[in-house]
Amino acid sequence: MKDGINRREFLGKSAGVAAGLAAVNALTARRIQAADAPVRVGVIGTGNRGRSLMGTMLGMPGVLFPAVCDINPDAAAAASAIVEKAGLPKPEVYVGDALHYRDLIARDDLDAIIIATYWQWHAPMAVDAMKAGKYTGVEVPAALTFDECRQLVDTHEQTKVPCMMLENWSFRRDNLAVLNMIRQGLLGEMVHCHCAHSHDCIDHWFFDTQGNIRWGGEFLLKRNCDQYPTHSLGPVLSWLDINCGDAFDYCTSAATDSRGINAYFRRKFGPDHPNAQREYKQGDIVTSLVRTKKGKTIVINYDMQLPRPYDNRWTVQGTLGLYNEQRDAVYIEGRSPKYHEWESFPPYQAEFDHAWWKAMEAEANAAGHGGTDYLELSLFLKAVREKGPTPIDVYDSVTMSSLIPLSEASIAQGSAPVPCHDYTRGQWATRKPAFAVA
Ligand SMILES: NC(=O)c1ccc[n+]([C@@H]2O[C@H](COP(=O)([O-])OP(=O)(O)OC[C@H]3O[C@@H](n4cnc5c(N)ncnc54)[C@H](O)[C@@H]3O)[C@@H](O)[C@H]2O)c1
Repeated sequence: MKDGINRREFLGKSAGVAAGLAAVNALTARRIQAADAPVRVGVIGTGNRGRSLMGTMLGMPGVLFPAVCDINPDAAAAASAIVEKAGLPKPEVYVGDALHYRDLIARDDLDAIIIATYWQWHAPMAVDAMKAGKYTGVEVPAALTFDECRQLVDTHEQTKVPCMMLENWSFRRDNLAVLNMIRQGLLGEMVHCHCAHSHDCIDHWFFDTQGNIRWGGEFLLKRNCDQYPTHSLGPVLSWLDINCGDAFDYCTSAATDSRGINAYFRRKFGPDHPNAQREYKQGDIVTSLVRTKKGKTIVINYDMQLPRPYDNRWTVQGTLGLYNEQRDAVYIEGRSPKYHEWESFPPYQAEFDHAWWKAMEAEANAAGHGGTDYLELSLFLKAVREKGPTPIDVYDSVTMSSLIPLSEASIAQGSAPVPCHDYTRGQWATRKPAFAVA
């Protein structure tokens, strides 16, 4: 051929292009089909997490993003670009001051709002979104204070609009298999859980790689508490039937001194760096103990500023045995083959795999965070589409978040027990489990 491409190469390339176009057409067709009843999502806070959530939702059919908002123009532009790149209409971009998000919320062409901003904006934005009648998906934690917890519940009850904290670890495949095991009675009556958020975030989240404080680090100067309890507590809530048969009763917490942040800066930037000498209110390890009204206990660790690999250290223990996530093992009286010897968990994972995962395995595995984000978001969007309840409700959202002010109050009082507020107004005693019920 004239341009030097021979016939076989030409046919090969044409076939490749044709296949590519067919794939694009199929995708477009799938999108248009699903777009007959699209879910229209507005996103507030399009930083790392906001864009990651958008990326996951862009892999799903029938999701449109008419509007995005961020106080940082670059973040908003990047979010708009990923929508366009996916072949969807360009979103309207809201960039302005910290309250500009209200203009996005006021639009009448949005079904749901996703909030992935700094922590102090989560509750105010969620309250505004519910008041505007939009399904609300708010990143973790949903609230920082007792007052914010109450505001979220009050607004939900007044407006009847669902509000779900996007606690993705509740949707982990292993945690849901354990939930199935518990519901089928394998561990007997539930007695105790341990959980932790052990994630060294000093060099990338609380501070940037140059040692400048980021917005998350500001909280370490001001508060001494479990700053980030919801990843630990997410699966525990359903394992122990919290808010549907049992409830948090009181909490007592202790914090170590704060050593890790100064030590990190001395090591990495030298003893004269301002952050090596600064006083941080936040202790390195916070250990909280919640006792429930039905006499169970939960130990929760905050552990985010000492060098260490990631860990959640989940253990759930009942009258017949226990599951231990770190060991990837179980021991079940009358079932495990050897007396007092751990048994490998993976066969249980296969046997008790949750229906959600069986149904969405391929799509979820192709997405990030081990597929949990895909599962979480697709269930949130299903609720929006069907105008039904969200898989995590406002009561569970604030109960998980309430450990922040509970631990802060207990630490401030020398580890005194602090009563836990009942956000369900007594309904916990009669409510039936709803999360992940087939
Ligand atoms: N569930 C998870 O696994 C997970 C993982 C990472 C982060 N998060 C949560 O996501 C949230 C965002 O974290 P990130 O790492 O993306 O932080 P980030 O700093 O990358 O992004 C936050 C964005 O919010 C924007 N913002 C702040 N205030 C705003 C306002 N008033 N109006 C509009 N935009 C505003 C910022 O400009 C920024 O772009 C945090 O609350 C964090 O806890 C959750």
